[in-house]
Amino acid sequence: MRIRWWLLGLAALLGGAPLSGSAGAQAIGLRELSDETRGCYECHQRHTPGICGQWGASGHYRSNVGCYECHSANEGEPDAYVHYDFLMSNIVTPRDCSRCHDREVAEFSASRHALAGEIEGSLQQLLAEVVEGNRAFKTAGFPEGASAAAVAGCAQCHGSQVKLLEGAVPDPATWPNTGVGRVNPDGSRGACHACHATHMFSVVQARHPDTCGKCHLGPDHPQKEVYEESKHGIAFFALQHVMRLDAPRWVAGEESFTGPTCASCHLAATPNQDVTHDPGLRLSWNNRLTVSERMDAADERLGLASMDITWEERRMNMKDVCGSCHSERLTDHFFVQYDAVIELYNGKFARPGQELMDLAQPLLAEGAPFSRRADWIWYELAQHAGRRARHGAAMAGPDYTHWHGLYDVARLFYNDLMPALEELAASAQASADPARSDAGAKLKQRLEEVLGSADHAWWRGALNVDEKARREEARKRFEERWGR
Ligand code: HEC
Ligand code: HEC
Ligand code: HEC
Ligand code: HEC
Ligand code: HEC
Ligand code: HEC
Ligand code: HEC
Ligand code: HEC
Repeated sequence: MRIRWWLLGLAALLGGAPLSGSAGAQAIGLRELSDETRGCYECHQRHTPGICGQWGASGHYRSNVGCYECHSANEGEPDAYVHYDFLMSNIVTPRDCSRCHDREVAEFSASRHALAGEIEGSLQQLLAEVVEGNRAFKTAGFPEGASAAAVAGCAQCHGSQVKLLEGAVPDPATWPNTGVGRVNPDGSRGACHACHATHMFSVVQARHPDTCGKCHLGPDHPQKEVYEESKHGIAFFALQHVMRLDAPRWVAGEESFTGPTCASCHLAATPNQDVTHDPGLRLSWNNRLTVSERMDAADERLGLASMDITWEERRMNMKDVCGSCHSERLTDHFFVQYDAVIELYNGKFARPGQELMDLAQPLLAEGAPFSRRADWIWYELAQHAGRRARHGAAMAGPDYTHWHGLYDVARLFYNDLMPALEELAASAQASADPARSDAGAKLKQRLEEVLGSADHAWWRGALNVDEKARREEARKRFEERWGR
């Protein structure tokens, strides 16, 4: 114990940043540890030694930013309570960090990450609350019950709405939670510790792809898996020991030249751009939607300030990242390939599929979504396989573009969706109810048009004659070489 305090004192002497009495400026360290923090530390060293150790190894400790500087609260704040004579808070929010990191907080707060908690009304929420879940999880804050699937699933990535009970104790249906778009009692959005885990708040960890991989993985958005497959991921796993993830300045192409991590492309600095906490500023497409849309148009619907930043500018920002390692031609041609995949998916499957699903709605209406086979097929086609294909193409993961992507899209489209809709149209047409029979006829007509179009005619054996001859010729040669 004595040695620790000696170390703390030494750090205060050596690491003491210029004294600034106020906590209002950007990233100021204190000359020495505050008395309050000493109080917390002394007692917590016995009760939560792990937290004290993490903090002691952090940049905050070196700058004398201690327990009290983050956990202190003001009288009247919703999350304030008295803890051993200290008025403080368990919930530490971007607003608390903004006292010293106002720029990061402003950028983060303007990003979609900060809005990720707004998932109410989505199809996914219906899945978690009704299809997978029920309201059997009752707590003091939710006497009517919450869905355990949503609390321990969705909300852990997207963020809960933290609800406080008597004495500012957070309700267990809402905390612990480090979801990136958490809605906090002070009205702020997000959780910085979604990426900067407490209590090291390490940038090494934030630059590591596994940090993003807590959320960006799985059947619907396998960015982590795509990255691992890409040449960039391979370079990271082989060469991370020379990547200088701990460098204070970490510029793509300079300190980090062997290959990019998620953070390099989406957030970190380049020779021409600063670090940003708004990854949307480097994206041209929004591929979360059924039909991909340009980012400025998608932001406009949300009313985000970034809607005035055109998708072309954002594309330039991303190309600038690539340009720290690659030639302009490689970068440009990569994006030509990427755009072609988006157009293929949008044009061949997403737009006609959406149109057919819209026409099918009057015929599906009796049941709730997901009680009908067509809903499951369409959900997996657009929200799972369709996203996988687009994410694979965006980040150079060919297995996701193809086998986990467009292959699955095509299988679901031809093998499952078309037969389901044809059956639906046929049975509706035979109905005695004229409205239903009419809706069936409309669906049938559109199905015929779609399946007769150049993209899909092959399915009913109507492949273009020249194309058919070319393919037959190639198939023969292939079988001679490889066998069947
Ligand atoms: C005299 C001892 C003591 C002092 C002083 C003290 N704490 Fe604690 N604190 C505790 C104990 C004991 C717990 C409960 C630990 C447990 O649940 O394992 C606790 C819990 C906490 C929690 C978690 C509360 C929860 O409900 O999860 C936070 C955050 C916390 N303390 C921060 C601080 C801060 C910041 C200070 C200084 C301003 C401080 N503590 C001062 C003993 C102390
Ligand atoms: C840089 C800001 C910062 C500093 C410094 C800091 N904390 Fe925290 N602390 C947080 C954040 C953020 C959380 C997560 C709370 C939440 O989910 O809202 C947290 C959570 C906690 C918790 C509850 C979480 C758990 O894992 O049990 C305890 C206890 C705690 N802090 C104690 C301390 C103590 C003791 C110190 C000083 C040694 C300290 N904190 C220093 C920001 C900080
Ligand atoms: C009282 C001021 C203060 C508060 C409050 C504060 N920080 Fe810091 N933070 C600093 C200072 C000073 C540094 C620089 C430390 C250094 O040079 O390593 C820093 C550094 C950091 C770093 C970079 C660490 C590294 O390894 O280079 C991160 C990340 C960070 N803070 C996140 C947070 C988050 C998240 C919060 C809120 C939960 C927070 N800070 C609250 C003052 C503060
Ligand atoms: C493992 C973390 C994780 C879980 C669990 C999770 N999501 Fe997501 N969700 C994400 C990520 C990451 C994205 C963004 C993917 C992208 O950008 O491609 C996303 C995207 C979404 C979107 C699209 C948002 C938009 O901008 O169009 C909705 C809606 C959504 N999720 C709702 C839910 C619901 C409801 C649940 C629970 C049934 C859930 N998610 C479970 C991580 C998760
Ligand atoms: C999506 C993950 C993510 C979230 C959420 C996040 N950060 Fe960061 N942050 C990073 C990454 C990655 C870096 C390292 C950037 C680089 O390469 O230098 C970083 C760097 C920092 C730094 C070091 C200085 C700098 O700008 O490089 C500070 C301070 C910081 N973040 C504060 C915050 C605060 C405060 C919040 C909450 C408002 C926050 N971060 C939320 C990923 C995140
Ligand atoms: C705790 C979960 C979580 C973590 C960790 C996380 N994200 Fe996200 N991210 C999300 C969710 C959820 C969304 C979808 C937000 C929406 O569209 O509503 C998202 C959206 C994004 C987007 C699209 C943003 C936009 O403006 O369209 C990018 C890019 C992104 N994340 C990159 C990253 C990177 C890089 C990291 C790691 C440094 C990271 N994320 C860490 C959950 C997370
Ligand atoms: C080589 C740079 C690079 C790396 C490394 C990288 N990405 Fe991306 N990412 C991109 C590009 C390019 C796009 C598509 C941009 C566009 O649409 O213009 C993208 C798109 C995204 C999106 C938006 C998806 C959507 O639904 O619209 C998310 C989220 C994302 N990346 C997360 C990650 C995560 C997480 C990692 C690490 C596991 C990662 N990225 C690694 C370049 C990269
Ligand atoms: C920090 C350096 C760095 C950055 C930044 C970077 N790359 Fe790479 N990239 C590499 C390395 C190294 C390779 C492997 C080169 C090789 O084997 O020929 C590579 C390979 C590639 C390949 C070949 C993939 C394959 O499977 O053959 C493409 C395409 C590519 N990068 C595109 C991009 C794009 C697009 C961006 C920006 C969104 C980008 N890179 C950003 C370092 C980088």
